[in-house]
Amino acid sequence: MEHIKSIIHKRNEQYKKHSFIQFMQDETIPAKTRLSYIPYGVYFIMTFADLNKYLLPNNVSGSPLETIITTHGEEDSKHWAWFLKDMETLGYNADLTFNDACSFIWSKEGLRTRMFCYKLAQHALNADPLMKIVIIEAIESMGKVWLTNTVQITKELGLDDKLIYLGQYHLDRELGHAMGSEEDVIDSIIIPAEMRPHAERVILELYDGMEGYNQDLVDRALKGHKLFKTKKYERSITDGVS
Ligand SMILES: [Fe+2]
Repeated sequence: MEHIKSIIHKRNEQYKKHSFIQFMQDETIPAKTRLSYIPYGVYFIMTFADLNKYLLPNNVSGSPLETIITTHGEEDSKHWAWFLKDMETLGYNADLTFNDACSFIWSKEGLRTRMFCYKLAQHALNADPLMKIVIIEAIESMGKVWLTNTVQITKELGLDDKLIYLGQYHLDRELGHAMGSEEDVIDSIIIPAEMRPHAERVILELYDGMEGYNQDLVDRALKGHKLFKTKKYERSITDGVS
């Protein structure tokens, strides 16, 4: 796994400089605005639950690798409920018509987000257990960058102990690698040399996809929720975090 981890580490360092990460760190922008990207994460966050519950686990042989994938998936597939709770806490759970909700999720402005989800699904469904571990390691490394920066914003707002998905509670449960296994167990997994070029391609594609999704988040957050047509919803977003 050492070879794979070094590829992930190198690409992760580049990801830390992405405009979305910089946006979250930019203290010239009000903290409330820097957290306002979260409603736009809905498609990825809910798809990620399916990925962990239905696409990655396939514990037919009960092998140690499949058990790691299933255990990890069982934990991460439940975190979407924390997201919904935080949407409520932040005041984003306003009334939207059904059609507005569909337009919001399936708008052109969220296309890179959806394409990333499809790409992730494609790789997850076509992967053998070893490749699934590679996918999990890459996604968890990205997740740690996102969540560490997000928790910092919630601290600035004094909300880190009130928010579950976006706050310290979630970060304390994310290890930056497959959950339910010690890191040295993951490290000891051997990815055969002939698999490495494909694994590297998948890792890089996933990082590119994540950055596209993240670009949707920052672009839409900076637009200031102009996509919402419902006055009540606009108001609740403005007033949501005080
Ligand atoms: Fe999570």
